[in-house]
Amino acid sequence: MSTFSHLEPYAGDPILSLNEAFGHDPRPNKVNLSIGIYFDDAGRIPVLDCVRRAEAQMLAESAPKSYLPIEGTAAARSAVQGLLFGAGSPALASGRVATLQTVGSSGGLRVGADFLRRWFPASEVWVSDPTWDNHRAMFEGAGLKVHPYPYYDAASGGLRFDAMCETLSSLPAQSVVLLHACCHNPTGVDLSQAQWEQLIPLLGERRLIPYLDLAYQGYGDGIAEDAFAVRALADSGLSFFIANSFSKSMSVYGERAGALSVVCADRAEAELVLGQLKATVRRNYSSPALHAAGIISRVLGEPELRAAWEADVAAMRTRILAMRRSLHGVISAKLPGRDFGYFLTQRGMFSYTGLSAAQVDRLREEFGVYLVRSGRICVAGLNSGNVERTAEAMAAVL
Ligand code: LMR
Repeated sequence: MSTFSHLEPYAGDPILSLNEAFGHDPRPNKVNLSIGIYFDDAGRIPVLDCVRRAEAQMLAESAPKSYLPIEGTAAARSAVQGLLFGAGSPALASGRVATLQTVGSSGGLRVGADFLRRWFPASEVWVSDPTWDNHRAMFEGAGLKVHPYPYYDAASGGLRFDAMCETLSSLPAQSVVLLHACCHNPTGVDLSQAQWEQLIPLLGERRLIPYLDLAYQGYGDGIAEDAFAVRALADSGLSFFIANSFSKSMSVYGERAGALSVVCADRAEAELVLGQLKATVRRNYSSPALHAAGIISRVLGEPELRAAWEADVAAMRTRILAMRRSLHGVISAKLPGRDFGYFLTQRGMFSYTGLSAAQVDRLREEFGVYLVRSGRICVAGLNSGNVERTAEAMAAVL
């Protein structure tokens, strides 16, 4: 027996491995709808001009590359808070929000999960059915039990809101409820503002712990609009967690730019929470990334870069909406009598197509169109050069 011979092979990640398989496919007309990455109309991952300018500033300054504080830079943290909670937020003014810069929002999700495991050892986690493939693994990896709550309605391509509320109403106090603040991954099905307003009092009455994941801010209806749930929860006075990411909104995936915020009862509690979150980070990855801090604080904090970023986000959102319309148009024409309206009503990068795993396999093998086997497509992988044939390929296997 050699040292590692007892190890089980890693099956690979359903999203990341598929994206790698796409890279190895030699077919020139292949289409990548697998991973949640925004591609422009030429099929490239854009480098936003505001990010390029922020990086040029950093290069010119050539500042020493010391360790960051465990919680990240003050400039990045306060920029994140302003973006999430809005200027003039009473929660920010009262100092009841603890925010750390983290290694992507995945790092934030995991730090929050470790914190929950330590300080709420009896709590279990409830995630939407379905949810992002990695949510369950992340919380289970932290030692928490994870359960599904009803969410997606396959029959209508919409939301099972009543069933969701019914399940959440039956949970023990201090259960953790993971919610996608906007642009639900993988379905693209979001709660309306009216539904959030109905859900929030329920979360409060049952004394549940909401944990928001906000990875696609700006891709749904707008930067402030997509923070509706964050701001409404903060206004309700509840305590909650929110992990947010800049990977998609700033097109800086590999920089691991994200944050974790915890809204507490008051300033003193926020200081306690921040301290324990710092302890969690220190024994995990020690401190976050310097380059990510510079990008976040400059792009959000400098008025010119901020305006350019907001315009970029609007352009990315608009292009995705145009792709949704094109896909809907072609597929509806090919398969008249079937209702594909959900492509138009679902929001953000993803749509659930209703394609079976066998149909997904056919799409990949026969047409070079890659999507995850749940039937999720990343609409941002469509462009004016591939949307028509992709829609035709989908219609052929449906
Ligand atoms: C996705 O859902 O495709 C993205 O969030 C990328 C990832 O890490 O899974």
